[in-house]
Amino acid sequence: MKLKHLIESQQLDKEFIFEIFKMTDKLRISTEKPLKEKILATLFYEPSTRTRLSFESAMIKLGGNVISTENAKEFSSAVKGESIEDTIRITSSYANIIVLRHFEEGSAKIAASVSSVPVINAGDGSGQHPTQALLDIYTIWKEIGRSDNITVAMVGDLKNGRTIRSLCYLLGKFENIKIIFIAPENLSIKDDIKEYLKKHNVKFEEQTELNKFLGSADIVYMTRIQKERMTKEEYDKSKGKYIITEDNLKLMRENSRLMHPLPHVEEIQLPINIEQTDKRIAYFRQAENGLYIRMALLSYLLE
Ligand code: CP
Repeated sequence: MKLKHLIESQQLDKEFIFEIFKMTDKLRISTEKPLKEKILATLFYEPSTRTRLSFESAMIKLGGNVISTENAKEFSSAVKGESIEDTIRITSSYANIIVLRHFEEGSAKIAASVSSVPVINAGDGSGQHPTQALLDIYTIWKEIGRSDNITVAMVGDLKNGRTIRSLCYLLGKFENIKIIFIAPENLSIKDDIKEYLKKHNVKFEEQTELNKFLGSADIVYMTRIQKERMTKEEYDKSKGKYIITEDNLKLMRENSRLMHPLPHVEEIQLPINIEQTDKRIAYFRQAENGLYIRMALLSYLLE
């Protein structure tokens, strides 16, 4: 499989995923600079800490250069009314690869259709975030030693969470996966994901209680309620419903892991000393893995 753009998780197969994991492990300890003379353009129309900075750091570590608009909605010519198509056409003549985060679902696909260089979707509205899903599966594989035969509890805003959507699509590539969706009724997982999981023989159930299922999962994947993608009324109905504290953390299995794409807000309320010492807390290692996964992806797409 030769990939030109990375827009959605469905594009990836198991062989590709493990090739990227192998490259990731190698690049973690490498000092080689294979991307000298290459330029990465990061176009971010929505806020980001991890995705933008890890992509930029990844490119610099590989010897390449970065051009960037960190707030493209305000500081690019989008503010003058330029279309995403024209912005991408122009940017693809200045850079060898584009990483795009945009507020509209489907924008990365449109960008790829007019770009002369690879486009990586770094999040398109409530659509997908495939590099997050890759680093999530890599983290699961590293932390519990397997990516087949696992039960994952996905918790929080499952309707708007693009990391959830991309992770479901990617989990569908593995064997004997069970997903427990735990969400408020107004933020439950969408039908297209359920259809896909059925088609790929992934077992799933939908629940609304958290504590009852914390002991059933190998991975508890918490997410933030995405205030920015709903009305105040909707937000008030669901905020604070699912929280991990020192007390309910005790319900998780000894060998399980607590993951989160971050940023976390009120849904994780653990003291810093627990976050630093409890091996089940994996979300900071997960975020660090993003750097190495993105180094591997840039290398794969540009070499
Ligand atoms: N996980 C994630 O996408 O984080 P950022 O929004 O900080 O990039």
